[in-house]
This record gives sequence, C-alpha cells and structure tokens, in this order.
Amino acid sequence: MDKVQELIDQEKQRQQDTLCLIPSENYASNKVMDAVGSVLMNKYSEGYSSKRYYQGNGVVDELESLTIKKAKKLFGVEHVNVQPYSGSPANSAVLFGLLEPNDKIMGLSLSSGGHLTHGHPNITFSGKFFKSVQFGTDDGGVIDYGEVEKLAKEEKPKLLIIGTTAYPLILDWKRLGEIADLVGAYLVADISHVAGLVVAGVYETPVNDAHVITTTTHKTLRGPRGAMIMVTKKGLKKDPEISKKIDRAVFPGMQGGPHNNTTAGILQALIEAESEDFKKYGQQVVFSEKVLAKELVGGGLTLVTGGTQCHLMVIDLRPQKLSGSTVSEALEEVGIIVNKNAVPNDSAPPFNPSGIRIGTPALTTRGMGEIEMKKIASWILQVVEAVKLRDKTELTKIKKEVGEMCKKFPL
Ligand SMILES: Cc1ncc(COP(=O)(O)O)c(C=O)c1O
Repeated sequence: MDKVQELIDQEKQRQQDTLCLIPSENYASNKVMDAVGSVLMNKYSEGYSSKRYYQGNGVVDELESLTIKKAKKLFGVEHVNVQPYSGSPANSAVLFGLLEPNDKIMGLSLSSGGHLTHGHPNITFSGKFFKSVQFGTDDGGVIDYGEVEKLAKEEKPKLLIIGTTAYPLILDWKRLGEIADLVGAYLVADISHVAGLVVAGVYETPVNDAHVITTTTHKTLRGPRGAMIMVTKKGLKKDPEISKKIDRAVFPGMQGGPHNNTTAGILQALIEAESEDFKKYGQQVVFSEKVLAKELVGGGLTLVTGGTQCHLMVIDLRPQKLSGSTVSEALEEVGIIVNKNAVPNDSAPPFNPSGIRIGTPALTTRGMGEIEMKKIASWILQVVEAVKLRDKTELTKIKKEVGEMCKKFPL
C-alpha cells in the first residue's frame, strides 16, 4: 500500500479509537469531504463571480454565488466573502482592508481566551503591523465590560476584534457594540468557535452589534477547513465601502486563487446547518457540555468562571498542583484527546500552561449524549487522581473501556 493512504488510514483509525474533546475540532460529513476532495481543486478562479482573471469559471461562479447566498440567509448578513483560506487569513484580511499600518486595534488576549490574530503582541501579523491593546478577564476568568469600556475610551482603537477560543461564557455583543460605537471603532466579531451554535440559536448572534463577522467553517459549523468574512447592515451603515474594502483585501490584497473545492465544502456544510437536525445538534452540544461540567465540578475539579454556557470549558489544574501537559498526556494514554490551555493570570509558560480545555462538538456529532458524558467525566476524574498519586495502574482498564465506547459510536 502506498504511504499516503497508509497514513490516512492510520489517522482514520486514531479518530475512530479515541474520544475527541478538543472544542475546535469536529467530524465533517462524507459529503463535505467529497466536495473538498473533488475536481474543483483543479481550477484557478482569481477574482470574484463574473469578474475572473481565468476562463472556464462558469461552474465556479455559480458555486461561489450560491454559497454566498446561503451564508447571507443563514447568518442574516448583507455581504459575504467565502474565499479566505482559513480563520487567520480572514482576520488578517479584515485588518488589512479596514486599517492602515500602525493603526490601533483592541482585543481579548490569548491567555484570557482570545486568539493570536486579535492583536497578540510582537509575533503575529495583528500585533506587529498594528498598535495593539489587549484586555483580559478578572481573576475568576470573567470579562469586566466596564473595564473594557474604560480601556477603549483611554486608547481609542480604530477597531475592536473580539472572539473566543477558550472563554466559557456567552459574549455580550450588545455591550461590545456599544463600546465600539462610543469610540467610533469598527467591531469585528470573530465567531469561529461558535458559528454552529449561533446558527442553531444557542449562542447570541453579533449580527446587530458588529460591523463585520468572521468565522472559520470547520469548528462547530462542521464544514471544511476554511473561513468567511461577513458584513452586517450596521457595517454598511458605518462605511458604505466596507464590502469592497474587504473583498479587495482578500483578493488581490492577501490571497491568490480561491480554493473552490473548499467553497463547495462550505456550501455543503451550510446546507446541512439549515436543517432541524443541526438545531438539535447545537442544543445537544451545549447540554452535554453542561453535564460534563457538573460532573467534573462534583468530582472536585475547578472550572474557569465556575462553569460553561457554550461548547467548551477550561479546567484550572492549579488547585490539583498539576500542569496541563501532564494531565493532557495522561488522558491521551487512555484515548481521551484534549488540549492544554492557559488559565486566567497563568504564571506557567504557554507550552506548559495550568489548564486543559474540553469541548463536546465532536463527540456530539458521533451521537454521544448525557450517559456517555457522565462516563467520560468519571474517567477524567480517575485519570487526574492517578496522575496525582503517580499510580497509573488503573489507566489500562480505562483505556479498554474508552475503546469499547468508541466502537459503539463509529465516525
Ligand atoms: C476565534 C478564532 N479565530 C481564528 C482562528 C484561526 O483559524 P485558523 O486556524 O483556521 O487559521 C481560530 C482557530 O483556532 C479561532 O479559534
């Protein structure tokens, strides 16, 4: 067998045999994967529908237009660009399109649950080519919107870019929109993590409060690896040229030809997200996360903010005197896949932070629910205990049980 196929098969087996609790991962449908693996990847289509730099784009024009139409309807927005290669290029394009170098931006810091592209200093595009002001949370991990307003008034950023990767509470978009308006800034809402929950109606939409919305398409939205940039009514009102600026920033500003195969995968994911089943999926993701959180707290673990309102939680391991690496590695030994994560005011280094992040989007796609969450919580608690006692004799037994559960829920 050839090496590539061998590696693909190995990864498929790994995904089948383990429990994925990484909140940014999911399992795309076969139809989404077929679209991404289709002949659409062979075509160059620089430009936009009906204004391409290459011939032979009749099909791609129809595909891109349909995808835009579907996204506009699903998110209630006025304009959509479906060409960004992924979430980071999408956010970079928005900054590049709406700002000049060295303009000031403001965002939630990475260590408080934001993303690198929201102005993380020095090492990222957003933190190097723009002046960046970052805000955090209080000691309990909760955003103090009064403090955000104060900082915005002091610093007068031109743009607020706000979204979450590890913040377990629902953001107050209305308040953030008011803060942006107060200082005359754009509000860019990055809903990458929660787009599927927004569509399902279980997470607040920023559509009436933000000027621009960005999202990846491969997390709770369950599509291919890709992204979209959306302009709201409010955005058009603030700046009638905003859509043009964003489109120009994506192409030719930052990218060349769009990945048409990805666009087809996005369209397929949006069609799936329109269904009643997807609404139930979103509700189940949040319900399962809350079950998991309750069990873990009941078992003595500490959660940042004390709980969760969405698809993820962050466990603070400092009271256990354990590190995120130690626990995530021990969990991997039994087939439970999570990622290590910083906690508020973490003094530990980013590569070995004091927490782990846990989410239910992928396991919910596999069909798991309350019963499985309770079992998984008990395994997590046992693994934490085993690591604390430096006694791993129980791990082999847990690994076997994890394997049996995985078999019952094929990908
Ligand atoms: C909120 C948020 N924005 C942007 C991104 C970047 O997306 P990508 O990894 O596709 O570049 C992520 C990815 O984790 C994210 O969580």
